[in-house]
Amino acid sequence: MPIKHFLRFDDFSREELDYLFSRARFIKDRFKRYQAYHPLADRTLVMIFEKASTRTRLSFEAGMHQLGGAAIYLNTRDSQLGRGEPVEDAAQVISRMCDAVMIRTFEQTIVERFASHSRVPVINGLTNEYHPCQVLADIFTFIEHRGSIQGRTVAWVGDANNMSYTWIQAARLLDFKVHISTPPAYPIDPAALGDSERSHFDIFEDPMQACRGADLVTTDVWTSMGFEAEDDQRRRAFADYCVDEEMMAGARSDALFMHCLPAHRGEEVSAGVIDGPQSVVWDEAENRLHVQKALLEYLLIGKLPT
Ligand code: CP
Ligand code: NVA
Repeated sequence: MPIKHFLRFDDFSREELDYLFSRARFIKDRFKRYQAYHPLADRTLVMIFEKASTRTRLSFEAGMHQLGGAAIYLNTRDSQLGRGEPVEDAAQVISRMCDAVMIRTFEQTIVERFASHSRVPVINGLTNEYHPCQVLADIFTFIEHRGSIQGRTVAWVGDANNMSYTWIQAARLLDFKVHISTPPAYPIDPAALGDSERSHFDIFEDPMQACRGADLVTTDVWTSMGFEAEDDQRRRAFADYCVDEEMMAGARSDALFMHCLPAHRGEEVSAGVIDGPQSVVWDEAENRLHVQKALLEYLLIGKLPT
C-alpha cells in the first residue's frame, strides 16, 4: 500500500473528505461524552515546527494523547533540523522512529521533499502555500452549523495567502464557490491554480461585493508568518480590507464568520464581528482537535466502518 500523506487539501478525494467529516463527528461525540477511545495506542506522532503555533501544536498533541498515543515536539531552534541537515536525511531518520509526522514550515517543497523520503504519513501543519488542516476544521464547522457546503458561497477578504489557496482547492473538491477580494497589489496568482479550480472562484475588487450573498465570510491576518518584513507596507495596502459589520450586513442574514486565528481586532476584522453573533471562531478552533484526530486515525489505520 502506498503511504498516504496530507500535504494539500486535494490530496484527498471528496469521498475521503466526507468520510473524515463523519469520523470527526463520531470522535467528537465520544470525546464530549467522556468516552475513552484509544485506536492509536502505542503510536507516536512527531511534530516539527519551523514557525510559531498555539492551536496546531495543542490540537495535534492533545489529539494524539486522547487517541491513546503520544506526540513529540521538535523545533528548528534546538534540534539539528535548524543546522543544515538535509530534509531528506531528517525524513529518513525521523520516519523510522515514529508512525506519523506533522510539519509546519516555509515552502511547500519542504513538506513534499520530506514526504518523498518518509516511511510514514506526513501532514502539512501549515506552509507558505497551504493550511489544509485548518480548512478541514473550517468546513467541518460550517457543516455542523449549516449543513452541506456544496453549492454555497464563501467570501474571502484579505491576503492571497496559504488559507485562501486552500479554500480554492476545497471549493473544487466539494463544489462550492469562493468570492475573493484582495488588495490589488496582493492578488491570487493564477499560475498557482489548476484549470478546474478557476471555475470555483470569482475575484472582486470591492470586498463589499465579495461578501454579497455569501453563506460564510472569512479572513486572516494581513501579514502571515515569514512575511514580517512587509508588515508596514501591508498595513497600508490592506487598510480597506477589514471585515466589519457593514461587510457582514452585505452577506446573507444567516452568514457565519470564521477566522483561523490568531486575529487582530481592528485590522482584518472588527471586534464587533469576531465577538458578535455570527462568529463561530471558537467552534472553528476547537474543531481542529476533532478533525485532526479523524485525520490521524485515517492515515494510521485506514477506513473504519461508520
Ligand atoms: N490557526 C492556526 O493554525 O493557529 P496556530 O498558528 O496557533 O497553530
Ligand atoms: N496565514 C497565517 C495563518 C496562521 C495560522 C500565517 O501563515 O501566518
